[in-house]
Amino acid sequence: MAQSVLAVTGGASGIGHAVAVLAASHGTRVAVLDRSPSVGEVAKELLDLGAPAALGFVCDVADPDQVARAFAAIAEDLGAVTGLFTSAGVDQAGMAHELSVEHWRRVMSINLDGTFYCVQWALRQMMAATGGSIVCCSSPASFVAFSSGGASAYSASKGGVSALVRTLAVDYASYGIRVNALVPGSTETPLMWSNVAPQDQSAMRQVLASEIPLGRLATAQEQAKAAWWLMNEDSSYVTGSHLVCDGGTLAKGSVSV
Ligand SMILES: NC(=O)c1ccc[n+]([C@@H]2O[C@H](COP(=O)([O-])OP(=O)(O)OC[C@H]3O[C@@H](n4cnc5c(N)ncnc54)[C@H](O)[C@@H]3O)[C@@H](O)[C@H]2O)c1
Repeated sequence: MAQSVLAVTGGASGIGHAVAVLAASHGTRVAVLDRSPSVGEVAKELLDLGAPAALGFVCDVADPDQVARAFAAIAEDLGAVTGLFTSAGVDQAGMAHELSVEHWRRVMSINLDGTFYCVQWALRQMMAATGGSIVCCSSPASFVAFSSGGASAYSASKGGVSALVRTLAVDYASYGIRVNALVPGSTETPLMWSNVAPQDQSAMRQVLASEIPLGRLATAQEQAKAAWWLMNEDSSYVTGSHLVCDGGTLAKGSVSV
């Protein structure tokens, strides 16, 4: 069964946008939640691509009231969600001993709290209907430290997402709700370069390409195809799982010299 109503957080850019586009091309009704005001244009794009309905919600996922309003509107206008892809996230680097409380809270409140608020509403709608599939964006930082350093807040937030996914998968399996995580490796999106000065990006891309076993970064579309498999009945026996889509990076697990 394909998804009938899919909510995508962070759907205005990168991996979330690619998932929304793929879902639209499969005839899914799509709700895009993002703090970016471009969600209206994204909804138009999705309709042009074949979505039977598409809505954009300017929504800060770190604000539980905004999330509640958005999910109520989705249920009213599109129907109860059958799928949720949580992609909204930020990567703000900094060494732990220098982090401000605000820095730590910002990363945790968007990446972890925001995921929880959206998942909570999706679970309620799915439980009242016929189940569904939830896929949350985790990160390799949930399993290993980045050799570039300074990812303590980001990795803690993504470790929380991974633990949440496993727990929810067990708690809600009997309701016909599957919960899985996508683990994207280095992927060409604005977030990928958010901690890198523009003049350093080309050199860093080359270093990454030389160290990633598949020899290049991923595209957002490649991540979307992996996420789409997890969201659909093709993966009907998969829950509580992490799909690593990283060109072999985690499997390599060794220093470069
Ligand atoms: N790009 C990578 O290399 C990579 C690797 C591992 C994991 N991830 C994860 O994938 C997910 C998607 O990242 P991306 O690479 O597509 O980044 P991106 O920057 O292209 O997209 C992130 C989107 O989230 C939105 N967003 C940020 N804060 C928000 C908030 N408070 N409320 C609502 N929307 C908000 C942004 O506006 C943006 O549209 C993130 O959770 C990220 O941590 C990315």
